[in-house]
Formats: sequence, C-alpha cells, structure tokens
Amino acid sequence: MDWGLHNRMARFVKPVTGHTVMLAADHGYFMGPTRRLENPHLTLEPLLPFADAIAVTRGVLRNSVPAISDVPIVLRVSGGVTVLKEDLSDEAITTSMEDALRLNASAVALSVFVGAAHEHQSLVSLAELVDEGEAYGMPVMAITAVGKELEKRDARYLSLACRVSAELGAHLVKTYYCEEFEKVVEGCPVPLVVAGGPKLDTDRAVLELCAGAIAKGAIGVDMGRNIWQSDHPVAMIQAIRAIVHEKATAREAIQMLELGKKASPPRSVPA
Ligand code: 5RP
Repeated sequence: MDWGLHNRMARFVKPVTGHTVMLAADHGYFMGPTRRLENPHLTLEPLLPFADAIAVTRGVLRNSVPAISDVPIVLRVSGGVTVLKEDLSDEAITTSMEDALRLNASAVALSVFVGAAHEHQSLVSLAELVDEGEAYGMPVMAITAVGKELEKRDARYLSLACRVSAELGAHLVKTYYCEEFEKVVEGCPVPLVVAGGPKLDTDRAVLELCAGAIAKGAIGVDMGRNIWQSDHPVAMIQAIRAIVHEKATAREAIQMLELGKKASPPRSVPA
C-alpha cells in the first residue's frame, strides 16, 4: 500500500488495535431526513468524540460538521437515486476525487449492487474509483448494498459481493453480519466492517451483532441507526467501542451500556 493511502487508512483504522468504530450518517443521500438524523449536526455533535470516523456525504460534511473537527471523514461519493424508486441500484459517482481531496477525506465510499439491475454500472464505478484512489492515495470502501432485497443478506451472497469488491481493488469493504459470517471474512482478502441495518429490537441484539462480527474477523463497524436512533446514543457507541477496541464481550458491553445510560446526557434530538 502506498504511504499516503496507508496513512489515510491509519487515521481511522486505529493502529493500536487494528480496529475501527465508524459512525454512518450518510442515509439522507437516498432516504432523505431519516428519523433522528433530521438535523445531522444535532445528531452527530455528541458522538464525534467517540467515532474513529464519520461516514457522510459532502453536503452533510460542509453544512453540519465543524471544519475544526479532527474526526476522520469517510466520504460517500455515490448516489443519484432515492427510496421513491423501486430500483435503488441505479447509482453513479456523484462527488469527484478532487472534491474528496479538497474536503480532506480519509477515504471515499460507494455502494456496489451485486446481482441488481445496475450491477455492471456500480462495479465499473468501483474499479474507476480505485484507479483514482490509487493515483491520489485515497482508500476506497465498497459498500455491499442490498437495496430493497434484504433477504439477500446471507453468507453466500455477501461472500460473492465482498470478494468481487476486493478483486476490483476496494481497500476496505462494508457488508452485513450474517450467519456463517466467518465464511464472508475468509473469502475476502481485504478488511471488512459491518453495518447495523435498520434499528434492532433490543440493545442486546446490537451488541451481540458487534461482538459476533469482531469474533469472526471483522475489523470493526460502520454503524448508524442502531447508534443514533438509540435513546442513549453516547452510551451505545461507548459500549460498541469496548467490544471493537477492548475485546469486551457482549455481556460486558451490555453492563457498560446500562451504567452509561444512567450517566449519559439526555439526547438532544427529538424522538
Ligand atoms: C447507507 C449506508 C449506511 O451507511 C449503512 O447502511 C450503515 O448504516 P446502518 O448501520 O444504519 O445500516 O451505507 O447506504
């Protein structure tokens, strides 16, 4: 890996643990004002001290994140379709590498839609973005998006999507946790982080997902709704950090979360 690319990656994949807690807040690019992310500044501000990176679009970055913040940025650079369309796979690159560099991004991210109508377009976008990333020292994260077809979240499908992303040159892949997740890890020669997906029913389920993913070889999480839609987002991200960086078990993290709930400030974002 070239020095600049390696250095950017080390900003958010913490060299001490080799792991990362990325906070995903890019949902608005196709979902609009998602619940509890209506005002990204209010949502993000209390969480910034606990995030190894935030995953956002350039619009949220410029308008909702103070430029004096030192949190590393994983910049979402794909889009072009919204939840109003049946086919979410019709994405293209929506932010140039030049703008990503101007914004001092630590990585760029795009969705790939393996098996969907616009599979070809998204995979070619990934390959082209990697060419640019290699030229400028910018890591590229491929997000194995499953669109509206959530039933595809099994090890067979995700192994295929992650491996194809790595083969096309992605430096990091974001995917979903699933049964037999170790098979997804085994077949993917680059590091994997997991998303959380829609908010789970219990805190325990969130922390067990994180612990399972780390135990099976993910290097971290890139999680959104299960953190900032929580009633105690600061306590939740701290409990997740304990799993990702300190090898806490799900059980230990749950105990931490309960203590954190008593100490954490009331959320500033309406229910
Ligand atoms: C949107 C994304 C999100 O960043 C990703 O889904 C992670 O967020 P969540 O944990 O809420 O699923 O890629 O396309």
